[in-house]
Amino acid sequence: MATKSDTKEVTVEPVAGRFGLGEGPHWDHHTQKLYFVDIFGQKICRLDPATGTVTYAFIENGPVGNVVTVDDMPDKFVAGSDTDSSGTRWNDGKVDSTGRFWGGTMGIEAGSTFTLNKGSMYSIDSDLVPKQQISPVSISNGIAWNIEDNTLYYIDSLTYQVTAYDYDPNSGNISNKRIIFDVKKNNLDGLPDGMTVDTEGNLWVALYGGNQVIQINPKTGELLRSVKIPAKNVTSVAFGGPLLNTLYVTTSSYGLDADQLKADPKAGYIFAVHGLGVRGLLANSFKLNV
Ligand code: BGC
Ligand code: CA
Repeated sequence: MATKSDTKEVTVEPVAGRFGLGEGPHWDHHTQKLYFVDIFGQKICRLDPATGTVTYAFIENGPVGNVVTVDDMPDKFVAGSDTDSSGTRWNDGKVDSTGRFWGGTMGIEAGSTFTLNKGSMYSIDSDLVPKQQISPVSISNGIAWNIEDNTLYYIDSLTYQVTAYDYDPNSGNISNKRIIFDVKKNNLDGLPDGMTVDTEGNLWVALYGGNQVIQINPKTGELLRSVKIPAKNVTSVAFGGPLLNTLYVTTSSYGLDADQLKADPKAGYIFAVHGLGVRGLLANSFKLNV
């Protein structure tokens, strides 16, 4: 297997932090800003890379697991938030090519202990009625589509696998699950977490507990590249920047005690990876018919 590790010109720059459980990066090309959430901080955050400034909205409802922009409504967002008593909470989410939201839930973690099979993965279109797509799942995480727009990639972190489904953008139906990559079988540390696709159709997958982001070819299952991130718990990735060639990476400091933070001082930071030589696709916005 040909694994290209970090090439010299790749740089990883901390751009904001520290946050608690950073998650759900979404690049808004209209405003050239990065949205993301701090889940238990109950914050929807916006980073302006031009100035380094982060502004945020506090969500009183409870933990907030994802945020996406709304089509044609610059001041509106869709975010997944739960009250603490629900027993599950939203995690990462994303919008497909038709403007339909996809996102999933997980049992609320106690430190690093997870309850299995409490969550599900849903799609929500403009009728705002959630449709259960995959259930049960333990930690609903990475979501991405292939360039041809006929395949959904999905990660339930505790399976250690990246999976693929046939996907019909018109109906929003998925079928025919198969495994395309297994983190354990590739002898990698950590859990597969958030992911995104580049214009060549390869996937970039965050490894939670693995200090890195990997690039894989979903057609062959080949591990193509690894980029070390100076924080252990890497939660998600999204391409951004004017040319969509910066990989923004969210990480978590949630549950780390003082000693662990000393050993992992950039935990909870947002990083910008430059020089990868690849580009991402524009993020879709939720289509709300009002
Ligand atoms: C979740 C964390 C979880 C981690 C495990 C993240 O996306 O937000 O709560 O610990 O995934 O991979
Ligand atoms: Ca994640």
